[in-house]
Amino acid sequence: MDIETLQTDLMAAIGSADTLEALEAVRVSALGKQGSVSALLKTMGGMSPEERQTQGPIINGLRESITTALTAKKADLETAELNRRLATERVDMTLPASDVPRGTVHPVSQVMDELAEIFADMGFAVAEGPEIEDDWHNFTALNIPETHPARAMHDTFYFPDDMARDGQKMVLRTHTSPVQIRTMTSQEPPIRIIAPGRVYRSDSDATHTPMFHQIEGLVIDKGIHLGHLKWTLETFLKAYFEREDVVLRLRPSYFPFTEPSVEVDVGYSVINGKRVIGGAEGWMEVLGSGMVHRKVIEACGLDPDVWQGFAFGTGVDRLAMLKYGMDDLRAFFDGDNRWLQHYGFNALDVPTLSGGVGA
Ligand code: PHE
Repeated sequence: MDIETLQTDLMAAIGSADTLEALEAVRVSALGKQGSVSALLKTMGGMSPEERQTQGPIINGLRESITTALTAKKADLETAELNRRLATERVDMTLPASDVPRGTVHPVSQVMDELAEIFADMGFAVAEGPEIEDDWHNFTALNIPETHPARAMHDTFYFPDDMARDGQKMVLRTHTSPVQIRTMTSQEPPIRIIAPGRVYRSDSDATHTPMFHQIEGLVIDKGIHLGHLKWTLETFLKAYFEREDVVLRLRPSYFPFTEPSVEVDVGYSVINGKRVIGGAEGWMEVLGSGMVHRKVIEACGLDPDVWQGFAFGTGVDRLAMLKYGMDDLRAFFDGDNRWLQHYGFNALDVPTLSGGVGA
């Protein structure tokens, strides 16, 4: 075969190769060890100098033109492959996500956000404390000494003795009140905080679960009295239930860490056989509160003749049930998606006072 025909054939083969694999086969057939162009290059060794002078440039020219054509075709095929992938692997960002499963905000999170919003408006900051608490913060500093019957009342989960820290027995906190102690021992008064969080008691039925949620409130300042407590709770409960006709009833009670202690009921009306907050046909207990006991203020290193305050504590799950109408507390912790779809809240519906704290 003459060189011209070989060149024409190879160019045609390069032109019609429509995949990278086919092109590689053409390259091997021309420039590989056994290739047609390689064979021609080898013949140059046996040529006379004159012959080489005429044939040499022709054979080398053939190799160069084939190499150039192969490189150009390879680039073409790679571009075509990229374009094909860009066309077929495109994601349409405008597609509606209608059938995608949607998560909801749990009512406990929703209510905690509502409470944080309401109290932030009254100048309260949010404080936190550990769920694994020592005996001193959970009991002793709150004026509940070792032998006090209130310890039995709390159905405490104790950690084994060998897990004691600094000689203190460790417990799962039974209430959020230890955050009062942690705040007073780490912060200078005046203090205005709320402390929402998980608490634990060994108790379980339709209205009690071993883990539940409380929110604590604490105000420490000069000249604080029961009137401040009553105004704060009234303002909070009206904002939370979003009704002006919320009526409070304060009953004398007992907590070791407050003196005097008051239990707070809210009035309800019965509408279509259902209890609705507002009015005063009946009473429901919603929170415990009182003036912080002198001994508690002293235990935190403050002078009770200078600093006074009030504290309150209530169940977040219970507040959620009263406002949103669930009747079994256990369902809060089942993780049942149907329940969450029914009672859960839209993540974009952030509670605000101006827009209404409830969804
Ligand atoms: N810690 C109390 C409880 O768990 C509630 C409470 C808090 C009462 C603050 C008075 C003051 O029952």
